[in-house]
Amino acid sequence: MCGIVGYVGGKKAQDILVGGLRRLEYRGYDSAGIATLDDKNEAHITRSVGKIAELSKALESEPQTGHLGIGHTRWATHGGVTETNAHPHHAGNIYMVHNGIIENYKELKAELKDYKFASDTDTEVLAALIDSNYKDGISLKDAVAKSLKRIRGTYGIAVFSPKEPGTLVVARLGSPLIIGLGQGETLIASDASALLGYTREAIYLNDGELAVCTDKGAEVFTLSLKHLDSKPETIEGDLAQIQKGGYDHFLLKEIMEQATTLHNTLSGRIDPKAGKMHLGGPNLTEKEMRDIHHVVIVGCGTAYYAGLLASYYMEQLVPDLTTEVVIASEYRYRSFHLPKDSVALVVSQSGETADTLACLREIKKRGIKTLGIVNVVGSTIAREVDGGTYVHAGPEISVASTKAFTAQVVAMLMFAGMIAEYHGGDPKLIAEFTRELEILPAEIEKTLNDNRETMEKLAKKYSKFDHALYLGRDTAFPIALEGALKLKEISYIHAEGYASGELKHGPIALIDDRFFEVFTILDNWLFDKSCGGLHEVRARGGKTIVLTNSKADIEADDIVRIDSPIKLLMPILLNTLQQLFAYYVAVDRGNDVDQPRNLAKSVTVE
Ligand code: F6R
Repeated sequence: MCGIVGYVGGKKAQDILVGGLRRLEYRGYDSAGIATLDDKNEAHITRSVGKIAELSKALESEPQTGHLGIGHTRWATHGGVTETNAHPHHAGNIYMVHNGIIENYKELKAELKDYKFASDTDTEVLAALIDSNYKDGISLKDAVAKSLKRIRGTYGIAVFSPKEPGTLVVARLGSPLIIGLGQGETLIASDASALLGYTREAIYLNDGELAVCTDKGAEVFTLSLKHLDSKPETIEGDLAQIQKGGYDHFLLKEIMEQATTLHNTLSGRIDPKAGKMHLGGPNLTEKEMRDIHHVVIVGCGTAYYAGLLASYYMEQLVPDLTTEVVIASEYRYRSFHLPKDSVALVVSQSGETADTLACLREIKKRGIKTLGIVNVVGSTIAREVDGGTYVHAGPEISVASTKAFTAQVVAMLMFAGMIAEYHGGDPKLIAEFTRELEILPAEIEKTLNDNRETMEKLAKKYSKFDHALYLGRDTAFPIALEGALKLKEISYIHAEGYASGELKHGPIALIDDRFFEVFTILDNWLFDKSCGGLHEVRARGGKTIVLTNSKADIEADDIVRIDSPIKLLMPILLNTLQQLFAYYVAVDRGNDVDQPRNLAKSVTVE
């Protein structure tokens, strides 16, 4: 949600800022801007509505020459999408970009009577507050620290002033900020991907910290201006991971590369010969594993659905375990209680989702052990959990989550497989899951390659419908929810996921010729019951697509059958087809698949 970049060094800041913003565009793409300080200490701001390409156009006619600057790509929270509301903002001697929400901005605005505000944003108010404190010889660092103490809300900020050329001040509370340390240059980014190719050494700022950055490096302080010893860490990943690699869209690349990324998720964590799974990250003793009797899984959107599917597997694998899967935005405000023998799995691709992070903190307050199921290394959730597992899916750039879902389910499954051994879990079942996990990457690859064209044709056939219902039972139910989410967010077709047993409790009333229905039907003991819903829909003239691994006769308008030795993990495999389907529907409708309207990756505001 919003991307921030900053630069101070010997190079032309504009090029580095715009290049960084392009990489962060997936975090927000309503509007963008940069501000730089030229060699005469004059500041210049260029902003534009729309994507970074618009900003680049604007900069062609008025290039900026300075060697220090800040940039921002916006996902609007306060104030509409206009050039005036775009960042950077400026008040007096302060130039600033901000990610997050200043909750008490109205109260502060009322106090700042000497300032005329051009925008409707909370950011401009913070810039004015800092400027109001930036006088009588007080330094920029001190003015920022003093001002931030008055803030209620969240922020990741980067600030400069013509009065202190060569200095960028940055700070964070609830919004990520990373300081890349280069040779004679320092870079700022809200996401490590903007730093790749420049440096591998970075300081991850913690909440409540502020840093003064110059071309020589960075010094970190608390808001009370106590100097901190911050150790630089190594940034993972490489440039190829954040490029499209020959695909038309990041989304297609991320769907198609799932065999490779899943291989990374599994690497060193399964032993198919012994029929066992083991995750090192949770760092649990045998006693701790034995003592777990309740697992609460927390997430938002796709991460929540991944948790839901994993909970079915956990129940199958661990006989004496109860599970609960909760939506983070709800759970954080509930008066929830957890038994002492609980463990919380906190699931997040970005590791920055504000609601999930808030839940993590609430759960920790109750003395419950928290384990992260996180993709982005060094992210806030990964840093705040007691232990956990990186899912190693690699950078997910497209806004819709695909490969992360697969990796999250598998990581949680391995957690279940590991603790099952200490809870009287059936060794044969654990071994069977392990065997399927071993072949899953290759089966995903085959399934995607074999069915890509079919899914494209199918997508063209259904892309003009207005509504879709996704239906599934048992482990196919979370997949129905996820399939509907994927379709709606990138195609803008209204889509709902339902447990197919719920059809006759309401949604069947919807069926008419504007709808199509996608049934995921597994070849298992519930096959006949799963077909029941399909018959009910067909009897009412519904248009049906069936995704299945069954060889039995099934009547539907379109059937996509998978022939695979995978059984238990079939929902994961079938879900990859839903991802392809959603992708091709969105392409056929001419949508911006990687950056769907109104959305942004990494929802760092509530
Ligand atoms: C859907 C999607 C979102 C995210 C949700 C959680 O495709 O991308 O629903 O899954 O915003 O994000 P993370 O996993 O980063 O916490």
